[in-house]
Amino acid sequence: MPNVVVIGAGVVGLTSAYELLQAGHEVTVLAKQIPTDFQFATNYTSPFAGAQWASFAQAGDYDAQQLDMIGFYKFMQLAKTPETGVWNQEYVYYVTERQYKHVGSKVEWPWFLNMPGLNYKKFDKSQVPQGLGLEYGFSCDGVVISTTLYMVWLLNENLKTGRFKIQRKSITDLREAINLHHNGKADIIINATGLLARDLVTPEEAAKIHSVRGTTLLVESNAGKQYTVKDHIPEFPGEYLYAMSRQEGGTVIGGCFEYDAEDKTTIDPAQKQRYLERVKKYVPHLLNFKGELDIVREQVGFRPGRVGGPRIELDQKWTHDNGVALIHNYGHEGSGFLASWGSSARVLNATNDFLGFKSKL
Ligand SMILES: Cc1cc2nc3c(=O)[nH]c(=O)nc-3n(C[C@H](O)[C@H](O)[C@H](O)COP(=O)(O)OP(=O)(O)OC[C@H]3O[C@@H](n4cnc5c(N)ncnc54)[C@H](O)[C@@H]3O)c2cc1C
Ligand SMILES: *[C@@H]1O[C@H](CO)[C@@H](O)[C@H](O)[C@H]1NC(C)=O
Ligand SMILES: *[C@@H]1O[C@H](CO)[C@@H](O)[C@H](O)[C@H]1NC(C)=O
Ligand SMILES: *[C@@H]1O[C@H](CO)[C@@H](O)[C@H](O)[C@H]1NC(C)=O
Repeated sequence: MPNVVVIGAGVVGLTSAYELLQAGHEVTVLAKQIPTDFQFATNYTSPFAGAQWASFAQAGDYDAQQLDMIGFYKFMQLAKTPETGVWNQEYVYYVTERQYKHVGSKVEWPWFLNMPGLNYKKFDKSQVPQGLGLEYGFSCDGVVISTTLYMVWLLNENLKTGRFKIQRKSITDLREAINLHHNGKADIIINATGLLARDLVTPEEAAKIHSVRGTTLLVESNAGKQYTVKDHIPEFPGEYLYAMSRQEGGTVIGGCFEYDAEDKTTIDPAQKQRYLERVKKYVPHLLNFKGELDIVREQVGFRPGRVGGPRIELDQKWTHDNGVALIHNYGHEGSGFLASWGSSARVLNATNDFLGFKSKL
């Protein structure tokens, strides 16, 4: 069976490894940082995600929609098994009057309400909570993924196959990885390095990779459902409230989307205060009896963004130059969890295409 080296132990690398193992391959994961570390660098993004399934794909972007949809049904299935760290939480989404006016007084339903079996309900102005400046909304089935539990589950499922090794290793040049497979030489390398992919690619490709900063508060209380209040705040673009509760207890409250601000590795106290005010307004049942939040941890993460969306393809040039296949799987921005299964299915397709091509030579 082919030997595959996956570089990266974020959700994208571990899910790629999972799919390749299920197809019978022998897989070594090499990574600088791994899910069982006690402290996570902010450039290891996966531990800092919420994570929920709420697709950002645009209305006509069927390619991104396919990636995301595969994940929805997979996570709904995984939610039936508690040790995955995935569980079902109803998803409730409201749009403020301010946001509605900002987009030209248009109602914008996300594409995914058309997915079969979502059990959605739409709310008009008379059906949303009153007196909060809300215009409309919807609710539907949903999942929340406890990021660290889930990644350890993936790791264990991979180990159970007996054809998997994980090795802590910093790679400075992808050619190094060719001889680091546990069986000797690799046939295929998967590049799943997230934000740090930019250190291993060509300058033109590196210029497409950028970070999108996100801050969250992990609190002790449970919201019971996932809430998103989409808003337009002119002074703080990209900020709006979301809250999602985890199976093991606690709720992740966010959030923001800030481009290229990697120097800001802590949460600004004023932003923290704004998050608290929004919780008081929209999800007051998260507060304790003193009207405060019991904060466990303040988190800052950097989503691995890429102009044009994620790169999931065989690198023809590198493959030709090195005689070993290189397949990329990076640049998932705010969708690394929800798109992980679809992306890994594409990696498997690219792997099969390459092996089929090679066997014909
Ligand atoms: C606040 C916040 C909320 C989010 N919420 C959601 C959500 O609700 N749903 C969702 O789907 N997504 C969410 N995301 C996005 C999600 O976290 C990312 O898309 C995802 O984690 C990217 O995973 P990855 O595996 O590509 O990268 P990473 O998790 O960053 O993993 C990269 C791996 O590569 C390794 N690596 C990198 N360079 C090298 C090298 N040179 N040598 C060896 N190893 C290397 C690293 O050590 C690491 O193991 C959120 C992100 C943030 C910050
Ligand atoms: C990633 O984060 C670590 C720890 O914060 C830091 O030492 C390292 O320089 C960062 N790497 C890059 C390429 O930003
Ligand atoms: C591997 O991916 C990283 C991004 O994750 C990128 O920087 C790097 O250039 C890629 N390697 C090659 C050889 O393309
Ligand atoms: C994988 O390939 C099959 C066969 O060509 C195709 O039907 C499927 O859509 C591909 N999967 C993805 C996620 O692109």
